Amino acid sequence: MSEFVKIVEVAPRDGLQNEKTPLNLEQRKDFILDLMQTGLKSIEVGSCVSAKWVPQMAESDALFVQLPQDPNIQFSLLTPNLKGFESALAVGCKEVAVFTAASESFTRKNINCSIDESLEKFADVMSAAKANGIKVRGYVSCMVDCPYEGAIDPQQVVKVSKRLLDMGCYEVSLGETIGTATPDRVKKVWDACLAELDSQVLAGHFHNTYGMAIANIYQSLNQGIRVFDSSIAGLGGCPYAKGASGNVATEDLYYLLSRMGFETGINLDALMHASRNISQVLKRNNPSNYANAYWQTQCA
Ligand code: HMG
Ligand code: MG
Repeated sequence: MSEFVKIVEVAPRDGLQNEKTPLNLEQRKDFILDLMQTGLKSIEVGSCVSAKWVPQMAESDALFVQLPQDPNIQFSLLTPNLKGFESALAVGCKEVAVFTAASESFTRKNINCSIDESLEKFADVMSAAKANGIKVRGYVSCMVDCPYEGAIDPQQVVKVSKRLLDMGCYEVSLGETIGTATPDRVKKVWDACLAELDSQVLAGHFHNTYGMAIANIYQSLNQGIRVFDSSIAGLGGCPYAKGASGNVATEDLYYLLSRMGFETGINLDALMHASRNISQVLKRNNPSNYANAYWQTQCA
């Protein structure tokens, strides 16, 4: 049997949080309904953050309640503090994600506090989550570089990841937030993490600004990482990381994994249907190499 690699689809959150013209709730819902047909088992629906900070993610809780529940699909919402957690809980969300960084400056710009303060806020989220049986995922941004501080010490990534896991996160996703990393530098971060942590509690979240995301994922696979975040049609970017472009496209990740013999559970036709629909809604050329090659062969 082929080994399974889990894909966490982040386009409805990371993909749409940076769009100049926010999609309305109906469009966001239709997008997620399309994604639900693809075989993807984990979908990040949105964020319970301040609408003043990220208007694109406003009413993510209202969106959540409109979605049909599917026992095979784990939905999640980003929650930076107890207020966000309570909104997620109120709509029946069973998994949330807390997010901080290995860089003080990025944490300050992104969530308006220090790393230590962010972890203090998460402690409240963790105890409320435990009391309500909610799973919590953790994000550590700037695994290699920070848009404000430059190179980040891998030991700092290990330190913050361990603190999130010790608090009760079931998994920590390391964000290559600005897409500047190359595989040699990614290797050093995983080496440092894997010296102290099990590969099963780690995930990779690669942005593709310099076209290195697939190379970085290949490196990560070789070091035993088996969970990756991706975004259909390569959508994405962080409003607080200037110049950062989209996440690795789910279509390209699918191609890499399936050609390497990994199982993903993805239905290709449904994936391509969802990818074409959202590109049309956003009036955007899809940057995924695989998606473009796929449509060329379909039309030939
Ligand atoms: P703050 O201003 O420090 O918060 O913002 P505050 O506690 O002082 O509250 C200020 C106002 O925000 C108050 O409202 C609160 O009620 C409200 P007001 O009285 O002014 O009307 N507020 C909230 N509203 C809704 N939901 C909440 C919430 N909390 C407070 N949860 C805060 C702190 C975290 C809220 C703010 O900084 C924020 O919303 N930041 C947005 C961060 C964000 O979404 N960033 C993008 C996602 S992270 C990312 O993309 C990286 C990742 O993809 C990995 C990678 O690529 O590296 C995950
Ligand atoms: Mg991201």
